[in-house]
Amino acid sequence: MSYLLGIDIGTSGAKSVVMDESGTVQGTALYEYDIDTPNPGWAEQNPLVWWQGTVETIRRVLANAPIDSQDIAGIGLSGQMHGTVFLDPSFNVIRPAIIWADQRSAAQCRKIYNEVGQDLLAQLTANPIAPGFMAATLLWIKTHQSKTFEALHKIMLPKDYVRFRLCGEIATDASDAAGTLLFDVPRRCWSTELLARLGIPKIILPNVNDSADIMGQVSKQAAAETGLAAGTPVVAGGADQPVAALGNGVIKEGLVLSTIGTGGQLFTPVKRPRFDPKLRTHTFCHVLPDEWYVMGATLCAGLSLKWFRDNIGPAPYDQLCAEAQEMSLGSEGLLFLPYLVGERTPHMDPTARGVFFGLTLRHGRGHLVRAILEGVVLALRDSLEIFKELGIRIDRIIASGGGAKNLLWRQIQADIFGTDVMTTNIREQAGVGAAMLAGIGTGLFNGPGEACDRIIRYGRTTHPIPENCERYNDLYEIFKGLYPKLKEDFRKIAQKFP
Ligand code: XUL
Repeated sequence: MSYLLGIDIGTSGAKSVVMDESGTVQGTALYEYDIDTPNPGWAEQNPLVWWQGTVETIRRVLANAPIDSQDIAGIGLSGQMHGTVFLDPSFNVIRPAIIWADQRSAAQCRKIYNEVGQDLLAQLTANPIAPGFMAATLLWIKTHQSKTFEALHKIMLPKDYVRFRLCGEIATDASDAAGTLLFDVPRRCWSTELLARLGIPKIILPNVNDSADIMGQVSKQAAAETGLAAGTPVVAGGADQPVAALGNGVIKEGLVLSTIGTGGQLFTPVKRPRFDPKLRTHTFCHVLPDEWYVMGATLCAGLSLKWFRDNIGPAPYDQLCAEAQEMSLGSEGLLFLPYLVGERTPHMDPTARGVFFGLTLRHGRGHLVRAILEGVVLALRDSLEIFKELGIRIDRIIASGGGAKNLLWRQIQADIFGTDVMTTNIREQAGVGAAMLAGIGTGLFNGPGEACDRIIRYGRTTHPIPENCERYNDLYEIFKGLYPKLKEDFRKIAQKFP
């Protein structure tokens, strides 16, 4: 029997997953880390911590799973998107990585819009720009830490640094490169025009490959550190969103993945790089060669619930959700806008703020929690509406992440989306997706279709309740109207209290 190792460099931790050829997970290990916030709105992580997490989780998984490291046929990677790792000519990390959640580069985003123009940006990248994306981060570094910019030899995305430590190769893949906003997404290559306009030398960027391409082999040094066998093939891997989509079997048009994790995303594969002309959603490269996906991203999904639990109404998640379950649909007139860290889809507004709207003396903890669960899904409904506007087919919605585990949150999704919501048998979607890429690259699977047929099974289906759908449609209209009314005030308050 051959085994595959998937490594996921997430925002809250590194995870290693070992599975066999049938997709049965033989072991997983998680190493948690924090986001460092040296200034308000900044979000940094030390790439050496990602590597430490990788080493430790591989060691743990090898010690606990009933396998020999020699039996691992290949290694794949998945990683948090958009972030920037800064390396000097000796490939040492110059400064902490600036990750996707970082908000410092809002001014640079405006500068890019002003200098490049929304139309050309859409034509070149098919995307809006958001703070924390590599393009904006690099301009911030160039302006505020010019010595670092001058010392730069190479920049990388998070999972690419870990691959570099495993096998010494400097590379990236199209799915992760797409999220930098320096990439010509339709043509799947670095955008020479955009790089020239932003004054970023192409030489600092890594070469771009397909996600299942073998990039190198585990080096002797990495083998000694991790316990892996030297020479084990390592594939390019991909960005966590499309890798998790692969791990959920979402590789065909008509399938929509609704992920409620720290952030929330609505994701659907497209055969051609179709994009929203109003630039409210993202169009990035899938981990399948010559396929793309459209994605709406809400920044604070599970994170809204975590914020509530940690700061407002401390109790275990299960208890909070049980209290929310007792409340009626619409939380007796309470709506929640989950914009606690600004918002991407549809507003693309780093100054947006969270709002509880409609509070009365009647409302208690259960109402507030239910309003959060509903508000997160109403925010994802914005993405679904854009998909419909773009003429995207929606046959089936697959729920993933923490939001898929809770029955109430799944029912709220079915009712607000007005569509059946299904789950799959896979729990560690990004890790399994990364392992699947390794299996495709090393020839254990004959392409992504075969990998999904062998591994993914659809599980429970939650059906929408027609009466609930109607009531949520009415609430969605009110929800949708709140942001435009508050937009200017969000900006003013953000100016006074940055
Ligand atoms: C996607 C996004 C996040 C990160 C972190 O656009 O910003 O999903 O990939 O996981």
